[in-house]
Amino acid sequence: MCGIIGYTGTGNAVSEVIAGLRLLEYRGYDSAGMAALTEKGIAVVKKKGRVDALENALKASPVLSHTAIGHTRWATHGEPSDRNSHPHGTERVMLVHNGIIENDIELKEGLLLKGYTFESDTDTEVAAKLIDSLYAETGDPVKALREACLRLRGSYAFAVLFSDKPDTLYATRCESPLLVGVAKTGAYLASDMAAFLPKTRSYIPVENREMLSICQSKITFYAENGSAYEKEQLLAEWDVEAAERGGFGSFMEKEMHEEPEVVERTLSPRILSGLPDFSREIAEERLLSAKKIWLIGCGTAYHAGLFGKYAFEKYARIPADAVIASEFRYIDPLLTGDDAVVVISQSGETADTLAALRLAKERGAYTVSVVNVGFSTIARESDATLQTLAGPEIAVASTKAYTVQTALLLLLSVSLGMKNGRIGIADAKEMTALLAKGLPSAIEETLAISDSIRETARNISAAEHLFFIGRNQDYISSLEGSLKLKEISYIHSEAYAAGELKHGTISLIEKGTPVVAVSTVPALREKLLSNLKETLARGARAVVVCERSAAPQFSDLSAEIILLPDTDPFILPVVTATALQLLAFHTASLRGCDVDKPRNLAKSVTVE
Ligand code: M6R
Repeated sequence: MCGIIGYTGTGNAVSEVIAGLRLLEYRGYDSAGMAALTEKGIAVVKKKGRVDALENALKASPVLSHTAIGHTRWATHGEPSDRNSHPHGTERVMLVHNGIIENDIELKEGLLLKGYTFESDTDTEVAAKLIDSLYAETGDPVKALREACLRLRGSYAFAVLFSDKPDTLYATRCESPLLVGVAKTGAYLASDMAAFLPKTRSYIPVENREMLSICQSKITFYAENGSAYEKEQLLAEWDVEAAERGGFGSFMEKEMHEEPEVVERTLSPRILSGLPDFSREIAEERLLSAKKIWLIGCGTAYHAGLFGKYAFEKYARIPADAVIASEFRYIDPLLTGDDAVVVISQSGETADTLAALRLAKERGAYTVSVVNVGFSTIARESDATLQTLAGPEIAVASTKAYTVQTALLLLLSVSLGMKNGRIGIADAKEMTALLAKGLPSAIEETLAISDSIRETARNISAAEHLFFIGRNQDYISSLEGSLKLKEISYIHSEAYAAGELKHGTISLIEKGTPVVAVSTVPALREKLLSNLKETLARGARAVVVCERSAAPQFSDLSAEIILLPDTDPFILPVVTATALQLLAFHTASLRGCDVDKPRNLAKSVTVE
């Protein structure tokens, strides 16, 4: 949801900013722009479209500088265009912004009265001109930023240049993420560590409403009352390779292939003597005594929440409910201090999920976050955090993050079930071993059938509409498989609980409509088979996803079959997700789509 970058140091600031923008492009790619401090003032170049367009413009008119800021945009206010691209500002002040200013209209009126004019439709230009006017009044960049923050409502991370402050970057944030990267040859500001990981692993998180300046490698922070201080550097766990494609054609492909390894990495520190052990991270008794466990997330993370609900109820017999984060506050949930809330988020910055977490805390519930980015806002604000160790997920479509979220929730459900007396020690050991050993190798086997899944993808890639059906855990897999497929291939797709289809949706089935039937629950197979036959009778083309030994049960359907490994139904939903990710990936690739950067989307949704 927009990526911002800044660099100041001895290197070529323009190339540093371009390199950083390439690594941030997954956050939005409607336009890209940069501003640089030069001897002649602030040079600005911005273009609609991707970073390539910006780089080409810079090749045509090169800019030399040691201090620059850059932006890659996911449009909120104003259509994608050169005019609405960031940076925005004046000859004196230029800034890039990630977030949304909510009171821009009211602020704009005041600025118009002061004689400011506006060239774009953006909220950002209002913020930039507000800072300019406050700088004119105070003559002090930090005071101007502080005063602006007092007047702005909404979310923002700003990187700012002042034309009369050479070699200096200024920044502040409120709700949108911002980090400082500290390298030998300079310092970076970025929305995400991925932007500077190739240069440095040393970083400093910027807290809400902190301001800072970076000048000739001196990094000074300022509190809201203006007092200055320095902060300690931290060392990132992620390395450069993690943020690069490592020989794969796309990040999505690379990230799917990392799944076996990251499942092991996420689960093994939580297993002691063959049994789950969460004692160092969370107060499990608070989950066990909860009247209800709420699982909250958006998109794929919500699907992981649905899966967690299913696992907590099935294995630990604890009442649980999954709610979409953007709905949570508005359903006026019957949530009390006797409840527990598990918020799930890869980025740890999703605005709706953060708002849900804050509501849960207000109501006194015990909050646990399942996040992939350990230093994220959601991780820092929740009572306890279970970090998934998937490493950076760059592709917009979430793959390995979902896999580790669901694997971790399964392990937690075993732990809770064991403590609840619902699962005996011997069974708990067997389930833990299935997760620790069986799951990585079953995912490995699934990745190995990628070529045959590509053939199935070939047969559905021309479809306009497509349906996924499944029952019970397979319904959740269907929801996630369908989201993945439509997100990156642009084929319209819907997921239905298989028994629900004939209550309306079956009227949409026409000759040749592909129906992907997920069937990994032996006890429900016959019912699923009947539901699938109902669609075939209306002309559907079937694709079945089941374990290898179950395939003969579908042999008279002339269906294509994606053969999952013969493993326990306990872990099969996680394996199914990988198979459906591969189906989505190949379908999108065959349709010539950009799998890493699907249109209209951004990776980290930091606006509500
Ligand atoms: O960072 P988060 O996990 O909170 O993100 C939530 C969703 O925006 C995300 O899962 C989205 O649905 C993915 N693009 C789906 O592949």
